[in-house]
Amino acid sequence: MSAPSRIAEVVAARLSAARNLLVLTGAGMSAESGVPTFREAQTGLWAQFNPLDLATPDAWMRDRELVWAWYCWRASLVRRAEPHEGHRVLARLGKRLSALQLVTQNVDDLHHRAGSEDVIHLHGSLFAPRCDTCGVAAEAHVIPSVPIDGPPQRLTPPACAHCAGHLRPGVVWFNESLPEHAWRRASDAAIKADVVLLIGTSGLVYPAAGLPGAAMAAGAFVVEINPQETALSRTISLHWNEGARVALSEIERHLSQQGT
Ligand code: OAD
Repeated sequence: MSAPSRIAEVVAARLSAARNLLVLTGAGMSAESGVPTFREAQTGLWAQFNPLDLATPDAWMRDRELVWAWYCWRASLVRRAEPHEGHRVLARLGKRLSALQLVTQNVDDLHHRAGSEDVIHLHGSLFAPRCDTCGVAAEAHVIPSVPIDGPPQRLTPPACAHCAGHLRPGVVWFNESLPEHAWRRASDAAIKADVVLLIGTSGLVYPAAGLPGAAMAAGAFVVEINPQETALSRTISLHWNEGARVALSEIERHLSQQGT
């Protein structure tokens, strides 16, 4: 049996024995769908754009049109992307293993579109705009549906229908708190988990990056699926040097062989 297949077998055995399973995904989960990650050299969004200009409350106050345009472009990229087999495997595992809780840092909707039903979004969503003043949620159709090929210079954010505010992207920016309910559910799932799959995250952005450590401290077996070593690789139980699509497909194949 090849080494990757042996790792898949070990991980599948852990999963089928788990009472509570946490899957935490990051931008690398969507990379094989063509959605750019943040921190990879050259291709990562933060290698091309300055987060201080685009992903902070101050940036929004300074230049709402620049920020709205950038997020509309990202929403357009995601709308044109499709979930890959790894997303679909997670959706099937969610139905097969009732104890699986899926938590994502991603602001795309690829887990939902692949069929996952209960996804905790720690960093919000590109498709959940809300008013920057009264906080009321708006419909996703306020985001232009025409394909946008590159980030436009400026787009005017729609006015709020209820107050004098403007609609802002429904994502969590640097210097903002995570949605309280989502964070509480994710923390509970980490503490309860006996197995954690950590997929496609650099493990640099807290508090999400603290979840695997909390799970380890409570006794969980933590497997990282990532073609690169990360800030967390040496602190967890097993680093699996593989992309999300192949690794998840292999896990599913072994679970089927084991009859789970
Ligand atoms: P990063 O861009 O920091 O890390 C992406 C990780 O995915 C890297 O470790 C890659 O090696 C890995 N990767 C790339 N291709 C992969 C593949 N096919 N399979 C598995 N892994 C792969 O993204 P995040 O850790 O998600 O915040 O970033 C965390 C947060 O920082 C994001 O949620 C975002 C950003 O600023 C907000 O939007 C609030």
